[in-house]
Amino acid sequence: MRKRVLATAAVALAGVLTTVPAVAAPGQGTPGVGDPYYPDYGNGGYDVAHYDLRLKYQPADDHLEGTATITATATQDLSRFNLDFALTASEILVNSRKASFTRSGAHELEITPSQPLRRNQPITVVVKYSGTPSQVSVNGYNPWLRTPDGGVAAGEPESAWWWFPSNDHPSDKATYDVSVLVPDGTQAISNGTLQSTVSRLGWTRYNWRSAKPQTTYLATLAVGKFEIVTDTSESGLPVFSAYSRDLGADEGAAKASVGRAAEIIDWESGVFGPYPFDAIGGYVPNVPTSYALETQTRPFYSPRHFRNGANPYVVVHEQAHQWFGGDVSLKNWRNIWLNEGFARYAEWLWSEKEGEGTTAELAAYIYSLYPSGDPFWQVKPGDPGPENQFHGAVYNRGAVALQALRAEVGDQTFFTILKGWPTVHRYGNAAIEDFVAYAERVSGRSLGALFQTWLFTSGKPASAPQASNARSAAPTGKLQEPKSWKKIQREGLSEHRDSH
Ligand code: TRP
Ligand code: ZN
Repeated sequence: MRKRVLATAAVALAGVLTTVPAVAAPGQGTPGVGDPYYPDYGNGGYDVAHYDLRLKYQPADDHLEGTATITATATQDLSRFNLDFALTASEILVNSRKASFTRSGAHELEITPSQPLRRNQPITVVVKYSGTPSQVSVNGYNPWLRTPDGGVAAGEPESAWWWFPSNDHPSDKATYDVSVLVPDGTQAISNGTLQSTVSRLGWTRYNWRSAKPQTTYLATLAVGKFEIVTDTSESGLPVFSAYSRDLGADEGAAKASVGRAAEIIDWESGVFGPYPFDAIGGYVPNVPTSYALETQTRPFYSPRHFRNGANPYVVVHEQAHQWFGGDVSLKNWRNIWLNEGFARYAEWLWSEKEGEGTTAELAAYIYSLYPSGDPFWQVKPGDPGPENQFHGAVYNRGAVALQALRAEVGDQTFFTILKGWPTVHRYGNAAIEDFVAYAERVSGRSLGALFQTWLFTSGKPASAPQASNARSAAPTGKLQEPKSWKKIQREGLSEHRDSH
């Protein structure tokens, strides 16, 4: 923008103003960021820096009301822009002036500021809203899980629409302050650190802060009656975990699993590099679902995970996503393998460490489990399509792909790659192609054919990955850094700076 202003001034001084092309009418922000799987997810024209959500939730009737204050910067001239949202907005201000707005489709708010916005202009959007999230379905889908004592927002790729207006795409990360007023005796859980709680007039306010960049689908809200367990990890981070008071016979196993969050993160830090966030934890609400979600710093777990006793694997998986998903986020949803293949492989590393099967054995097991005619081999983990985004093949064939890489480059190089990757993309976004290029750079080998076979070709590959060249050298604690580590970090950083 600065450059353009100077150029215009120079032209004006030269007295040839009439030849200057008319300034384009301020554009409209597109209703999507151009994700190939979800074209209308996220919005064009601005970049969010911070969400401040000041909410009030009544568990008795699932009524949510609040004010979202979104701090952003226009990335183009804008006469109009969108937010993704499914509840009901009652008033919107842009830079302190009332804006007009209308709903477009099931999850878009179209906002017209009273004055057009200029490229690079700071924007403050205030949205006042309310709704009953459990009553709002979009295309038959609703990630708001109503519980007997409250509700939970946990869904992927969609979950924000049901509790705050946003630029709902992983490519636009922001920091968050989430302040939730709930009746005394009820708890409100979100991401990051609990800054304070304040009680008065029968209501308690929970003030949460996510000070590290966070994508919208990794933001979570849970309200209900929870038992809270807090601690400080050996590494000095605050641990905050919450267990519904309604877990019944699953309570012990839930605590025996999520209670190991800090220990598991310490082990993962040895393999994946420094933990990227400033808080640790997890929560287990009283929901009947059977999935978990890697909500940032504080994964969501269903009680079902703990029906057969302690389950460290689901904790290893969700916490591995703190590196692979939270720290390094997807450039677009086609790249889901960067999340799920790596989180599954983390489980395999845990298995190897625990003596419950090596990664090579697990890869061979998956390879032999599905005959060549099985639909499993039809899904390409590198481009599964939105309908198969969370297909077992993305996880399992995706983890076999990493085993194939390990077998190809050897343990030392493989673990250098695994640790270097989150570091070079810290708080950024990446695509599979970036990973392939990084692995080639660190290993000095051409790996295109390997990834083509395991990620981008449908059909069963001709043979399982060979056993790794140093089977027993899996990390049991802190990895030894090879001598070239510092150099790789440096080079990686300059190579990938653009994606930050
Ligand atoms: N990312 C989750 C995991 O692997 C799985 C998941 C996919 C999910 N879609 C979801 C969880 C929707 C909750 C809702 O752990
Ligand atoms: Zn996962």
